[in-house]
Amino acid sequence: MSNISKIVALSSVYILVACLILNITAQDSSREALEIEIGVGSKGCNNEHHNTLQSTLHCALPRTNMPTLPPLPSLAEVLVFADQRLAVVYPVIQKFKSIITSDPLGITKTWVGSDICKYKGFYCDNPPDNASAIAVASIDFNGFQLSAPSLDGFLDQLPDIALFHANSNNFTGTLSEKIAKLRYLYELDISNNQFSGPFPAAVLAMSGLTFLDIRFNFFTGLVPAQIFTQNLDALFINNNNFMIQLPDNIGNTHFLYLTLANNKFIGPLPRNIFRAFSNLAEVLLLNDQLIGCIPYEIGLLKEAVVIDASNNQLTGHLPFSLACLKNLEQLNFANNLLFGMVPEVLCGLENLVNLSLSDNYFMHVGPFCRVLIEKGVLDVRNNCIPDLPFQRPVMECANFFAHPRFCPRMWSYNYIPCSHFPHSSSIPEMAPSP
Ligand SMILES: *[C@@H]1O[C@H](CO)[C@@H](O)[C@H](O)[C@H]1NC(C)=O
Ligand SMILES: *[C@@H]1O[C@H](CO)[C@@H](O)[C@H](O)[C@H]1NC(C)=O
Ligand SMILES: *[C@@H]1O[C@H](CO)[C@@H](O)[C@H](O)[C@H]1NC(C)=O
Repeated sequence: MSNISKIVALSSVYILVACLILNITAQDSSREALEIEIGVGSKGCNNEHHNTLQSTLHCALPRTNMPTLPPLPSLAEVLVFADQRLAVVYPVIQKFKSIITSDPLGITKTWVGSDICKYKGFYCDNPPDNASAIAVASIDFNGFQLSAPSLDGFLDQLPDIALFHANSNNFTGTLSEKIAKLRYLYELDISNNQFSGPFPAAVLAMSGLTFLDIRFNFFTGLVPAQIFTQNLDALFINNNNFMIQLPDNIGNTHFLYLTLANNKFIGPLPRNIFRAFSNLAEVLLLNDQLIGCIPYEIGLLKEAVVIDASNNQLTGHLPFSLACLKNLEQLNFANNLLFGMVPEVLCGLENLVNLSLSDNYFMHVGPFCRVLIEKGVLDVRNNCIPDLPFQRPVMECANFFAHPRFCPRMWSYNYIPCSHFPHSSSIPEMAPSP
């Protein structure tokens, strides 16, 4: 084989053709600049066999329509890397590139040459164990729309990775157990992809992980209870096909964000979970087949701004303890089986902008709550409140109340586990603490 045909085989044909057609004579472009600019795929324009074809400008022209290149292991041998750690991950990246089946934004055409730190989506930094080394420390593929059958052999082979963000791509497959050995990984976001298989149990072994976002995928099976005791700040697992059984006693957690919505719950809302989640700002439990009564401990979610437990089977009264959630802006219990009176102390919360209680079986609303109805904050449509419009038919309400409905610890429904709550003095219905 001639040198030219070797290069044709190793590199991309079209660049060579383009360069030959353009018949550009050698310019003063430096080899280094060219490598950074157009990388391995363009070496046909700038190598010792084709010195007459050097031109950054013209060789770079065909890039607009560059197809995905196959990995080029033999060229990798001659590439010079800024650090050994980059040389190690180069074949890993090229292998991953070779299994990418769709790249509508042309991201991977930048994944050429030895300067991995300039690849689109890759970021380098000094690894924690050696301040003078350079390694791939983070990946941000968010919104790249890449399709690949798996992250196996890629993510788990990036030993210095600290952040991996790949939301809104089209990645499939399961998440390998092998990611457990990624000792620096603290943020993992693979949301809005097509991942399937069981909960990625490998994350349980990753003590440094603080952010786990796997929402909007097709994961199935039981969520291990240990995940709730992990040192996570944020756990987003909503919109999968998980089965979730919330453990009752989990001690204190670090969670600031927890979204479990649109999965399947097994069993009731355990009392003590709220004590553990007292730092939570957002609690999303909607569409989750939650059953049973709402324990007063929900009032311990003192940082909560948004609570959405709509479209479940929750029953009983709304606990007065909700009055303790002084930051609460949105509370949604629409479409459950709640009844009784809407607590006036709840309607007195100053930051409330949206209180959705429609499609339940409430029977009474007091003056504070009526003010909120007028303001459009409180929605109690399709309940059983006799003097309000848009309520359920009388027979429907009668049928519901024909069955006796009890909650445990009924005393606790008037209990307010915080010393300060708005309008305390003006609320007549207050019951004494137990
Ligand atoms: C740290 O990294 C530099 C650059 O890769 C390397 O030369 C050096 O040997 C490394 N030091 C240790 C202790 O591994
Ligand atoms: C994702 O990949 C599947 C299968 O390859 C394909 O049918 C689908 O159109 C892709 N979706 C997007 C948003 O690229
Ligand atoms: C309140 O929240 C519900 C549920 O998210 C939403 O459908 C409704 O439009 C909101 N109402 C207002 C006034 O923002």
